[in-house]
Amino acid sequence: MSSVRIAPSILSADFARLADDVAIVERAGADAVHVDVMDGHFVPNITIGVPVVKALKRVTKLPLDVHLMISDPDRYLEAFIAAGAAMVTVHVEVLPHLHRTLTRIRELGAKAGAAINPSTPISVLSDVADQLDHVLVMSVNPGFGGQKFIPHSLNKVAALHAWLTSVGSAAIIEVDGGVDLTNANALTRAGASMLVAGASIYATPDPAAATVALRRAADAR
Ligand code: DX5
Ligand code: ZN
Repeated sequence: MSSVRIAPSILSADFARLADDVAIVERAGADAVHVDVMDGHFVPNITIGVPVVKALKRVTKLPLDVHLMISDPDRYLEAFIAAGAAMVTVHVEVLPHLHRTLTRIRELGAKAGAAINPSTPISVLSDVADQLDHVLVMSVNPGFGGQKFIPHSLNKVAALHAWLTSVGSAAIIEVDGGVDLTNANALTRAGASMLVAGASIYATPDPAAATVALRRAADAR
């Protein structure tokens, strides 16, 4: 079993010290930086935009994993990818032309991913398997950090993993929301290979130690 990728979510970092907070998890062996973009429309919160992605790109070598929780992602794909997004994740709930959007993300040079909310079935992805580099399973309702993991997400990850395997897809499964030491191992066993963690890393006294501990928990056999 290869090691799970750990992607700390800077939503729970100190926005006044973003470069430092990213450097801490980079030194601790994080694999990506998860950037939550929220528009106050698709989700109730407003967070980060293109200029912050651009600034982060200057201070870290880690791939930027940009999660677009916005109503009109198509309009901003080019800008986020030009700013340095290596992975771009869009929500299926706002996209009537998902195939076109995912194709466009790849054309622009980033990895393309679809995110599904807790109430969205995995079957919405059945005709875009070939366009997916990753699938992001939301294990909380998007909008805020520090929420409680929804247990059903574990079944969803397992079902998604079974389906991706059955269609021969190499897309990886990313899980986002309430991920911590209590569920990381079960998620990995169910088929997740990338774990996003905000509060369980940045809302602790030692984010570096929390990064290492999360990986260890996820990979334990
Ligand atoms: C929630 C965001 C998450 C969030 C996760 O809408 O998509 O990435 O930062 O934070 P935690 O790990 O605290 O649930
Ligand atoms: Zn996210």
